[in-house]
Amino acid sequence: MAHFDENAKPFSNKWLDERIGLNTLKRVLNTEYWIPKNINFLWAMGMVLAATFGILLVSGIMLLMYYKPDTNLAFDSVNYTIMSEVGYGWLWRHVHAVGASIVFLIIYIHMFTGIYYGSYKRGRELIWLSGMGLFVAFSAEAFSGYMLPWGQMSYWAGMVITNLFSLGSLDVTGLVEWIRGDYVPGDAYLTRFFMLHVMLIPLAIIGLIVLHFGTLRLPHVNNQESEEIDFEESAALWKAGKRKESKVIPFSPVFLSKDVFVMGVYFILFFYLVFYNFEFAMDPVNFDPADGLKTPTHIYPEWYFLWSYEILRPFSKDIGLIAFGVAQAAMFFLPFIDRSPNVAPAHKRGLFQIWFWVLLIDMITLTAMGKLPPTNPTFATIGLIAAVLFLAMGPILFIITMFEKKIEKGA
Ligand code: HEM
Repeated sequence: MAHFDENAKPFSNKWLDERIGLNTLKRVLNTEYWIPKNINFLWAMGMVLAATFGILLVSGIMLLMYYKPDTNLAFDSVNYTIMSEVGYGWLWRHVHAVGASIVFLIIYIHMFTGIYYGSYKRGRELIWLSGMGLFVAFSAEAFSGYMLPWGQMSYWAGMVITNLFSLGSLDVTGLVEWIRGDYVPGDAYLTRFFMLHVMLIPLAIIGLIVLHFGTLRLPHVNNQESEEIDFEESAALWKAGKRKESKVIPFSPVFLSKDVFVMGVYFILFFYLVFYNFEFAMDPVNFDPADGLKTPTHIYPEWYFLWSYEILRPFSKDIGLIAFGVAQAAMFFLPFIDRSPNVAPAHKRGLFQIWFWVLLIDMITLTAMGKLPPTNPTFATIGLIAAVLFLAMGPILFIITMFEKKIEKGA
């Protein structure tokens, strides 16, 4: 035990270093973990996501202290107890609701940044796959959370989504009942979704975040020119004081200060929404208690699921389900659909750039159409065209990147 200094003050730098290797961590972050210089604020979105997840966890724990997972009590525990009786209960609820909505906006920005700069390609496939795992887990987390206030939209959205598990005309009703624990959403349904929301899915998310960070370690993050950087050479230049020539910066404190700045700006906007514009994150229909005998005239999901919903809706039940599955799978396996070895930002990839913007505009169109009632024929037709286009985007990407590959080989 000779290396323990008896005179070191508890919790001083030395005391902590002897116990948890604090200086080793500092050394790794200051001198062994390098980030490309050439990146913009979009590369801070990963940390913004991690911070938003932290806020969701903390606000969720606060709400958990008063929430009651019982169909007779859930609605009132949220809408009366938490909103009016518990000190600052309304604040934690608004933070949680705004966080749940905004986290998807940031996820989409993060995903589209990855697509634009080709950050899912060669060497980074597992970053993308673990990211998609996070996307699915966050979707499940948001859906299960939406059930908890036990309002009209909770009940009916739950009914519609769990009905999908009957698998169209295969009509596997047993599976739907097994998931619900009853013929219709009820007490068993609410308590199991409560368990998923507060326990199983958050644990899965934490595991997936660790995996996502792990997959980033060897390939390092990409950069604005999608350039393959020799990290060792650049790090040596930095250490030798040739900072201008070096293409990298140390994670701490240089890069971290950039991340913290972007997070600061983000939190100003976030809390502006929490205090002045939280309504966008709360559906007015869900302020009516769940009633299994009163179907709302128009059932729709939250905005972040609308593009998927609009791919499902315009088709007949079976084709809609297949279209939905194909669309999700195409997003998941993007690194393997893109055949081009060319890792470059979209503005340097000709046809790919057009593909990228068409995909983005198409997803926004699907989102807008998904919110409208299906009764208007013009909007229904636009929705159908956008859905068919989305399904075609996978094969189109395959073809244009095969073409890119040929040109690359010929060059
Ligand atoms: C929701 C939880 C998520 C967290 C906390 C997270 C965190 C991070 C962080 C910290 C980085 C490195 C810095 C950066 O590029 O921003 C990163 C990179 C990356 N993430 Fe995520 N991410 C999440 C979700 C996703 C999703 C849904 C996808 C897409 C499927 C994704 C795909 C990627 C890719 C491709 C990179 C590499 C970017 C590059 O090399 O430039 N992530 N993520």
